[in-house]
Amino acid sequence: MSDLPVLITGGAGFIGSHLVDALLAQGHSVRVLDNLSSGTPDNLPLGDPRLELVEGDVADAALVREVLGGCRAVVHLAAVASVQASVIDPAGTHRSNFIGTLSVCEAMREQGVGRVLFASSAAVYGNNGEGEAIDEDTPKAPLTPYAADKLASEHYLDFYRRQHGLEPAVFRFFNIYGPRQDPSSPYSGVISIFTERAAKRLPITLFGDGEQTRDFVYVTDLVGVLLQALEMPQVLPGAVNVGLNRSVSLNRLLEEISVLFGGLPEVRREAARPGDIRHSRADNRRLLARYQLSEPTPMAAGLARLLGGA
Ligand code: NAD
Ligand code: UD1
Repeated sequence: MSDLPVLITGGAGFIGSHLVDALLAQGHSVRVLDNLSSGTPDNLPLGDPRLELVEGDVADAALVREVLGGCRAVVHLAAVASVQASVIDPAGTHRSNFIGTLSVCEAMREQGVGRVLFASSAAVYGNNGEGEAIDEDTPKAPLTPYAADKLASEHYLDFYRRQHGLEPAVFRFFNIYGPRQDPSSPYSGVISIFTERAAKRLPITLFGDGEQTRDFVYVTDLVGVLLQALEMPQVLPGAVNVGLNRSVSLNRLLEEISVLFGGLPEVRREAARPGDIRHSRADNRRLLARYQLSEPTPMAAGLARLLGGA
């Protein structure tokens, strides 16, 4: 791998900071562009001279062009990660989640950088999976501004691939969890919220009947895939699901958390959230064909590692 840095947009966030750690551990240099809206410098080893943090907005095209100078690849993670936040503020999330992608594409074209990894989402399928394992060709049905922006970003990346020779590796992440997923926001990932509240004995809010399912992936399993995508000589077109083909209901998640904590705090039930997806489970055959995913972290082990802060 060349010594030129990898630019990670959103690198001060949950997934990004784990990728930063992994790249630094492999001896590489990293530049992070982050507006610190949900990420924090505390997630980053700022004393490492191979790491540079630029505070700014990924939708600022001139800034992205400047920050990209001298980089060899981009991992574009910067976005408002909450589906519900996009329901509440479609215009604000669009700026980060779509205009941000467009400014990354333009900057790459201008700076002659080819490889970009993009964090799309299982949300693009909407409810079309209906309990089955969803493969990448399943018709898309974005139910929220978040999902629509991710899908539009995918299409734009494909345009820049065909027109300008970009090499986008598009991943549709299912539900990623692990340490540093901010538990303090109600819009954060469900596992971080539930485990934090169970630890503090605070009431847990369950939206819907708890029978909705998700395909949870431990963050370092995802990071292993991203590292491979940065190094592979060629990227095949077509998005890749990052899920484990495992379906876990929220009720089962609560049982697992109860075992870990020797009981649960009060569970308050509220109506299902608007735009919430009912079932989400990845058909991951394309992932397994293109990438090594040896022994993905079992749920119980992932929860234990999360509580240990690993
Ligand atoms: P996160 O909120 O921890 O990370 C997002 C980072 O982007 C934060 O550091 C935030 O400050 C930064 N950011 C947001 N808007 C920005 C802007 N306009 N300019 C610069 N920086 C900005 O969330 P995460 O879970 O680490 O998500 C990373 C990416 O993965 C996101 O694109 C998200 O949509 C996607 N994704 C996450 C999951 C999941 O389960 N966590 C699943 C599917 C897709
Ligand atoms: C998550 C990601 C999103 C990603 C998508 C891919 C976050 C914040 N969201 O969205 O970026 O694109 O996976 O599949 O990382 N819930 C409760 N109580 C709570 C919080 C949540 O019952 O306090 C429920 C929600 O209503 C939902 C489920 O838990 O049914 C999962 O919610 P959440 O963790 O926000 O994830 P997704 O909406 O699936």
